[in-house]
Amino acid sequence: MSKTIKKVGVLTSGGDSPGMNAAIRSVVRTCAYHNIECIGIYRGYQGMIEGDFKEMGPRSVNNIVNKGGTILKSARSVDFRTPEGRKKAHENLLKAGIDALVVIGGDGSFTGGLIFNSEYDFPVMGIPGTIDNDIYGTSFTLGYDTALNTVVDCIDKIRDTASSHNRLFFVEVMGRDAGHIALNAGIGAGAEEILIPEEDLGLDRLLDSLQKSKASGKSSSIVVIAEGDKIGKNVFELKDYVEANLPEYDVRVSVLGHMQRGGSPSCFDRVLASRLGVKAVESLIEGKSNYMVGLKEDKVVLTPLEQAIKGKSEIDRELLRVSDIMST
Ligand code: F6P
Repeated sequence: MSKTIKKVGVLTSGGDSPGMNAAIRSVVRTCAYHNIECIGIYRGYQGMIEGDFKEMGPRSVNNIVNKGGTILKSARSVDFRTPEGRKKAHENLLKAGIDALVVIGGDGSFTGGLIFNSEYDFPVMGIPGTIDNDIYGTSFTLGYDTALNTVVDCIDKIRDTASSHNRLFFVEVMGRDAGHIALNAGIGAGAEEILIPEEDLGLDRLLDSLQKSKASGKSSSIVVIAEGDKIGKNVFELKDYVEANLPEYDVRVSVLGHMQRGGSPSCFDRVLASRLGVKAVESLIEGKSNYMVGLKEDKVVLTPLEQAIKGKSEIDRELLRVSDIMST
């Protein structure tokens, strides 16, 4: 029989994403609603090892629903990868009377939670927080929608200057292993080509496409590249290659970088965070463990953490076709 949950610990781990604060707020207030205590754990698993805890009540999360980043701070803990680190973390949780954990983060954070659970039979529930949208078991991760809007806004601005100078811009967006941001923001911002790790376009096709676009009368172009794309070694080498082969193009590079991770979360991310936080806490209360809460077909659903880690969040290949048609 599962034991009654009296005190939940919540942490944010890995790369931060807009909406993490809204998720913390949701976890804290759902605990309060069900008369359960809630403890904020600072700096992810590192704070668990160092006992960096703080009690959180419904008023301690006032005015954060609209804030980017995470008030609990985030870290990628190297110590938590060691059995000694996890032992220390477990001792601290027991000392603080915490009997379940909500982990807000990406697959690396979930892997840590799963190992911890297997060693100490400690209830863990995951909430997917990453701008990359690369987690299996949910159509949307926290922060993805906000990041898309940030990227589209940036590319709209780049388009103004690209058009004024008849230039070609390579815009690099985040997405270490996944092209979701590049693909969707690329379509939203009207990119000529979108280069993603899931699809090897090939240098020849890129040159061919750029040549055609020039011949069709386009005077400026935007190419969106996911940082994990394998076509060139990096976006600057790609620029050199295109300039060497298509001297008619005046090329510039813009790497959007970490600005994509910041900013006030979109309404979509705030609502998603609120829904996932409620489900995470209520699932723990029901005695469930080792799941990730996610959104599928607008329903909040649970996916075993192991599947969420091992599964692949596929891109929608139809979007590649849509992008091709739009760049006609
Ligand atoms: O996982 C989210 C992410 O933003 C990736 O897209 C990116 O590659 C990585 O984090 C950057 O991490 P860091 O902030 O440690 O440089």
